[in-house]
Amino acid sequence: MPFDLSVDEALAEAVQERLGAVEAVLLDAVHSDDPLLAQASKHLVEAGGKRFRPTLVLLASHFGDPAARGVVEAAVVVELTHLATLYHDDVMDEATVRRGEPSANSRWTNTVAILTGDYLFARASDLLADLGPEAVRIQARAFSRLVRGQIQETVGPAPDADPLKHYLQVVADKTGSLIAVSGQFGALLSGAPTHVVDTVTSACEKIGVAFQLADDVLDIASDTEQSGKTPGIDLREGIRTLPVHHVLAGIGSGPDDARLRALLDQDLTDDALHAEALALLRAHPAMERSRSDLRRWAEDARAELLTLPDIPARAALIGLCDYAVSRTG
Ligand code: IPE
Ligand code: IPE
Ligand code: MG
Ligand code: MG
Repeated sequence: MPFDLSVDEALAEAVQERLGAVEAVLLDAVHSDDPLLAQASKHLVEAGGKRFRPTLVLLASHFGDPAARGVVEAAVVVELTHLATLYHDDVMDEATVRRGEPSANSRWTNTVAILTGDYLFARASDLLADLGPEAVRIQARAFSRLVRGQIQETVGPAPDADPLKHYLQVVADKTGSLIAVSGQFGALLSGAPTHVVDTVTSACEKIGVAFQLADDVLDIASDTEQSGKTPGIDLREGIRTLPVHHVLAGIGSGPDDARLRALLDQDLTDDALHAEALALLRAHPAMERSRSDLRRWAEDARAELLTLPDIPARAALIGLCDYAVSRTG
């Protein structure tokens, strides 16, 4: 696990143990009697991933009874939902690498990747059914938001809309929604008081926004070794993320600003143009501005978390805010 939960040894041990249970249920859930579906489903589960969302479910469950019925299953549900969106997202983004392995669409085909994603959604729904109608509705609504975010990203802002505002709404919908639900499930199913559930949910949504902003900075700044993905995919796909919005809005300026803006306005599927844009963007002050923006989101999340009861899980959640920030260097 990439996060440091050592703020409290007993908590770290408890979460680690429950994550073991999550892994077992997860592997069991993706089983199929169809060999291709079984293999394609297991592919990304076994490739690893940070298990950020299940960890949030487990940490949030410490505001109530962490051993309560359904907590582990909810952690599996959020990871399965996340995984399903990754299979579909890699088709949309034409990504070739995921979690350091060939993406399902490149290893098999788009058809296999799409159907495997659908299968994982179905498996998540099956587990959800046992958690009751409220849990089903919560996940369904988050999933609706997630899809809305993905489609809004694809369509882009209306000509008269503020592009940065549109971008932040996309980020909250496509990523904040499921990360918020992760905290919500943990707190709710553990029987925490309503005001605690609400605060955890709201703080986790902010963590989710910071997390996606970090992912967008890393898409530009990191290499495959670090991210397990191909750098510069957003640029290649013509998806404008925070650093690009900042360049286009004229925040900071580098000597090659005009050239960078011209590049950002054109198709970047050509390898040489893509490499040039990526290099100019990496060196642009818009990157530091983006890091400072995501730090602010993490600080807002932290301030909200600080209103919760002072238990070790609160400190660990605050640690996850720090993690969202620190991974961008
Ligand atoms: C990737 O999520 C997609 C985003 C919402 C940024 P993660 O960064 O949690 O991916 P894994 O689960 O660790 O592979
Ligand atoms: C997609 O965002 C987030 C999802 C809801 C799947 P990205 O396209 O930035 O995610 P990565 O970078 O491929 O993981
Ligand atoms: Mg993607
Ligand atoms: Mg990304």
